[in-house]
Amino acid sequence: MRKGFRTILLLMVVLSVFGCYGYRAYIGLHGKSIRLYPDIHEAVTEDRKCLECHHPDNPEGPPTPHPNFKGCINCHNDEIESDKN
Ligand code: HEC
Ligand code: HEC
Repeated sequence: MRKGFRTILLLMVVLSVFGCYGYRAYIGLHGKSIRLYPDIHEAVTEDRKCLECHHPDNPEGPPTPHPNFKGCINCHNDEIESDKN
């Protein structure tokens, strides 16, 4: 009985650590879509370009918490709900 309770407690701790906002990118979740700001992001596809505006050293837009990631577009190009257009 007691052992089962500890297992559940441990599981909850582990889940809450991974559920923490700052770690979401590291388990492969998607971030906000660049399609929220189509004017700014039009025709931008290369990581190098994204970092020109989002690198934390000299951000022109909001700085990225993960400048070393590759394939920005894979996580930041989701479709947005059509009623926002
Ligand atoms: C010309 C500079 C520029 C380039 C290039 C650029 N961005 Fe942005 N980006 C911005 C600016 C400025 C904003 C903020 C828009 C606003 O808040 O009105 C923004 C907003 C964002 C946001 C939303 C942030 C938030 O908190 O709402 C994400 C995510 C993002 N960009 C990712 C990218 C990715 C990925 C790329 C490459 C495909 C990219 N950006 C290329 C300037 C740029
Ligand atoms: C594995 C998916 C993934 C990749 C690859 C990725 N991101 Fe992100 N990004 C996220 C997630 C998820 C967030 C939300 C904040 C967090 O949990 O770290 C985020 C947050 C951001 C933000 C802050 C705006 C916000 O929504 O809080 C910017 C700017 C950004 N990313 C830019 C980039 C750039 C530039 C690249 C390429 C160098 C990149 N991202 C690559 C998933 C990713």
